[in-house]
Amino acid sequence: MAPKPTKEDRFAFGLWTVGWPARDPFGDATRPPLDPVEAVHRLTELGAYGLNFHDDDLIPFGSDEPTREKIIARFRDALAETGMQVTTATTNLFNHPVFKDGAFTSNDRDIRRFALRKVMRNLDLAASLGAKTYVFWGGREGSESDAAKDVRAALDRYREGIDLLAQYVIDRGYGIRFAIEPKPNEPRGDILLPTLGHALAFISGLEHHEMVGLNPEVGHEQMAGLNFAAGIAQALWHGKLFHIDLNGQRGIKFDQDLVFGHGDLLNAFFLVDLLEGGASGVPAYDGPRHFDYKPARTEDMEGVWASAAANMSTYLLLKERAAAFRADPEVAEALATTRVADLNTPTLSPGESYAELLADRSAFEEFDVDAAASRGLGAVRLNQLAVEHLLGAR
Ligand code: GCO
Ligand code: MN
Ligand code: MN
Repeated sequence: MAPKPTKEDRFAFGLWTVGWPARDPFGDATRPPLDPVEAVHRLTELGAYGLNFHDDDLIPFGSDEPTREKIIARFRDALAETGMQVTTATTNLFNHPVFKDGAFTSNDRDIRRFALRKVMRNLDLAASLGAKTYVFWGGREGSESDAAKDVRAALDRYREGIDLLAQYVIDRGYGIRFAIEPKPNEPRGDILLPTLGHALAFISGLEHHEMVGLNPEVGHEQMAGLNFAAGIAQALWHGKLFHIDLNGQRGIKFDQDLVFGHGDLLNAFFLVDLLEGGASGVPAYDGPRHFDYKPARTEDMEGVWASAAANMSTYLLLKERAAAFRADPEVAEALATTRVADLNTPTLSPGESYAELLADRSAFEEFDVDAAASRGLGAVRLNQLAVEHLLGAR
């Protein structure tokens, strides 16, 4: 039986997840629109802690000021009633046709300026609601034709936009950090900053790079055939895991946004192990455990709420299994065999220079290559122990 989620688990959802009416490129919506206030109450009842939203999820695009103010006031009341935290916010720079060739990197300068103003307005709202992270998923920043987009100029404009918005947040004292969310494609044929590696390189060139990190999504890295848990480890290594989009993906295909764990379950196990402490036992990430998924188009509203609960219970079950894996003496022995911990020992001794290395005959001239090559690693046994813990067989 899966443990019940509590606010201490810091689970969060995008409003657009449970609110997805399930319209897709090949079919109409299968569900009615969902009132954001109802989503706040239902997600609270399920044990969620936090919320993320695009401006247009809450306030329909083009709403007049009085309507906007009324919607925001009603939303604030729901947050106050439930204690739900707005951990994160973002901007819809992809739905309206005006963004059909991008927002920050549209070839049309007036659309780029409109996009920046749209973000600035939602940054004001996000700050007033207490959000500490602002996501930038450039869903339309890309192209279907290599001739129609000058990638170097597009990256200039992307950097110009993020630098300007970072300066705005600093000057306003909002205390918000930015999290760039990579994705290789969909809806554009190719999207700029397609993987977390590209995004890390881009961030390093920004004026306020210290306040810009990553919001990696499970399915997006896996759409590029990459190992998500390994990518998160690198994001952590750079100190750039500012947020995370948890979901599931079954291989290199369209973005499935499945329930967390409903794709590569073994990689999800190792991801939770990494986030929740792994070998060190010290959680590597203290941000919201945020789900960005889409309840399958086949589901009715009851199915939607069941899918929201499924994300959290799967995460908690994996957390339990990972803790059991780490506590298992046979795993400790298998880890020792594979010498995983030895990787933490620097290759050079303290103070050793390359001159001493050059003089060390045991490192080269007298090194027994065949003996070293004949050592077995024992990784498969270790992996099998993980699988047995995952299957509840230990
Ligand atoms: C996707 C993306 C989007 C963004 C969200 C926040 O599924 O293509 O994950 O859902 O994450 O719009 O900007
Ligand atoms: Mn996605
Ligand atoms: Mn996402």
